[in-house]
Amino acid sequence: MKKILITALTVALLVACASLHASGQVALPLYADDTRPVEERVEDALARLTLEEKIALLHGQATFSSAGVPRLGIPELWMSDGPHGVRAEVAWSSFAEAHWTNDSCTAFPALTALAATFNPDMAYLYGKAIGEEARYRKKDVLLGPGVNIYRTPLNGRNFEYMGEDPYLASVMVVPYVRGVQENGVAACVKHFALNNQEEARTSVDVRVNERALREIYLPAFHAAVTGGNAWAIMGAYNRHAGEYCCHNERLLQQILKQEWGFTGVVISDWGGTHDTHEAALKGLDIEMGTRKPFTAYYLADSLLAAVRRGEIDEKVIDEKARRVLRLITRTVMNTRRPWGSFATSEHAETGRRVAEEGIVLLKNDGALLPIDPSRIKTIAVIGENATRRLTIGGGSSELKVKREISPLEGLRERLGGRVKIVHAAGYASGPPAYGRVLPAPGNADALREEAVKVAANAELVLFFGGLNKNYRQDSEEGDRLDYNLPFGQDRLIEELLAVNKNVVVVLLSGNAVAMPWIRRVPAIVQAWYGGSEAGNAIARVLDGTVNPSGKLPFTFPVRLEDNAAHAFGTTAYPGENGVESYLEDILVGYRWHDTRRVPPLFAFGHGLSYTTFEYGKPSTDKKTYARDEVIRVRFALRNNGKMAGSEVAQLYVSAPGALVPRPAKELKAFTKVALQTGETREVILEIPASRLAYWDETTSGWKIEPGKYTLQTGSSSRDIKHRVTVTIL
Ligand code: GLC
Repeated sequence: MKKILITALTVALLVACASLHASGQVALPLYADDTRPVEERVEDALARLTLEEKIALLHGQATFSSAGVPRLGIPELWMSDGPHGVRAEVAWSSFAEAHWTNDSCTAFPALTALAATFNPDMAYLYGKAIGEEARYRKKDVLLGPGVNIYRTPLNGRNFEYMGEDPYLASVMVVPYVRGVQENGVAACVKHFALNNQEEARTSVDVRVNERALREIYLPAFHAAVTGGNAWAIMGAYNRHAGEYCCHNERLLQQILKQEWGFTGVVISDWGGTHDTHEAALKGLDIEMGTRKPFTAYYLADSLLAAVRRGEIDEKVIDEKARRVLRLITRTVMNTRRPWGSFATSEHAETGRRVAEEGIVLLKNDGALLPIDPSRIKTIAVIGENATRRLTIGGGSSELKVKREISPLEGLRERLGGRVKIVHAAGYASGPPAYGRVLPAPGNADALREEAVKVAANAELVLFFGGLNKNYRQDSEEGDRLDYNLPFGQDRLIEELLAVNKNVVVVLLSGNAVAMPWIRRVPAIVQAWYGGSEAGNAIARVLDGTVNPSGKLPFTFPVRLEDNAAHAFGTTAYPGENGVESYLEDILVGYRWHDTRRVPPLFAFGHGLSYTTFEYGKPSTDKKTYARDEVIRVRFALRNNGKMAGSEVAQLYVSAPGALVPRPAKELKAFTKVALQTGETREVILEIPASRLAYWDETTSGWKIEPGKYTLQTGSSSRDIKHRVTVTIL
């Protein structure tokens, strides 16, 4: 009898639960072991949500979190900056540090350094490692990478991006995104779109013609979505064609979601949302960072009221909620995702390798580098950037790190036992500050004089300068005000040269700078912001342990006015009366310098090695190609120097007979080849004819113009080795 009673009770309980479950009234472990396809799970969950629950998914509930559905056991989403490492934990509803003791991360090199590797394998390793750190810190969305095109050397955030060329940025962003998302963490590619400066970033209305938009400013985002399957995109602060990019019909609805088939979530930049109806109807999915109480967000109570008034159809809400549920299912509810790892020696090594491969040897007259300790007794290490922490500052991408090796520490570690290393600051900038410039200490003369004295008593001077991620020195919210090196560095370099001709200038920055002393300085190295392992990477390149192989991802103009964005007055930069017109059109960076014959200080794609490479004559498998075919270019590459090294062989294309204006040349393929001394390798570069298309504004589509194309192999955009011509039918 008792048994029958228990069985009856159990059956009754199961029936009751099942009916409650079906009605969606009770939080059952809906998904703990749910192996159904993602879309089926998403539709199941969506069908159970009330309108209030759907709307709760669409806006922040904390500085870096948006809600789930507790009733159904659907967890909230956690997001974190940034592109170079996982930001320290902040307070629930402010950016104030939470002062945790377990969130000191690995700082990976800034993305300009990654781009300078011209090595997609490095981009994958980078994405995998930073994704592991985000996963370990229980972050479901990493707010990076940034892929806005380098248009002006003044842009405060160029260090967070991947340079001036859309093809380079497109190739490098895809493996980064894949590496991150393998961890069940969404990459949130930013800032979509046309956020190419910090000046007036939250209001400027960027006007650019469709062809430049398609050929220059969108390709890296397109690659991230269609090649990398990015699960999130961040809307930019600025406006385009009069509409804010966080709710922009053309960019978000027509191009991103309809034309590109983006299935992920559009997240606003923090504070980039401005209106309920606009946000609801023009493509925004999650509103973050609005400076209001969370319930007062535009996509919160106001949206609920608008739906209830019948102004916005609930189907619009369903489409957004569907995307957010898909993101939740891909990340935090993906029970098969790995566990991640944090601030490990493996990640430090990844950071160091990227930093090493990204370092660009700009000049090396008299082979002053690599350092030969047997011929040197004393090295003078001059400059504040030899010791300054550069993983902090810059704005939202700043990091709290487990460790940061400075150039001076790296040099002491590598060479300290064999040569005497004497450091003098030489100059001083203000203390780290965001949003304002704090005055530098008043002892500039004394600092300079002391440095000159140290330099006079050394066989070699290593000067570490550049910018420092302080406000208006490579930072958010403030572009640089001029193109020069700040803090009296130019004068200091001249005075160092006056007492010692063996000066190596090592620049740590995310931007090009003027170099009035360039003829007198025998060796120049662009070392970027190298992250936690910066000092070790720099020391290993300077002492020849690593042969530099980085190439410039953007042009260094001689003068600011030689740069395209500064050739058309304030209309073109920083804009006038809130409107900015990209009058240079498609001629950004080297496209401008080569087409308008404006010699650069250093060219896009430039970078020397401690060895030399010889390019054989290229051949193509055919002379004529149909538009759906792939052009195959072959040539021998030989290391004819005295050291093993890697070369980034680049291929540029010109269309001399084009009926439409086209840049003098455009990068259409590249590959990085490691060669032992004396080794020759056959390089094969494949260029689908479709990659030669231009955006035809008359048909609003890509067009491959028949005719002759000149393919140019080279070691930079200006160091062209050979040419071969093909015809597209
Ligand atoms: C910032 C940045 C964005 C960042 C976000 C959250 O203003 O523009 O890149 O991810 O807000 O910190």
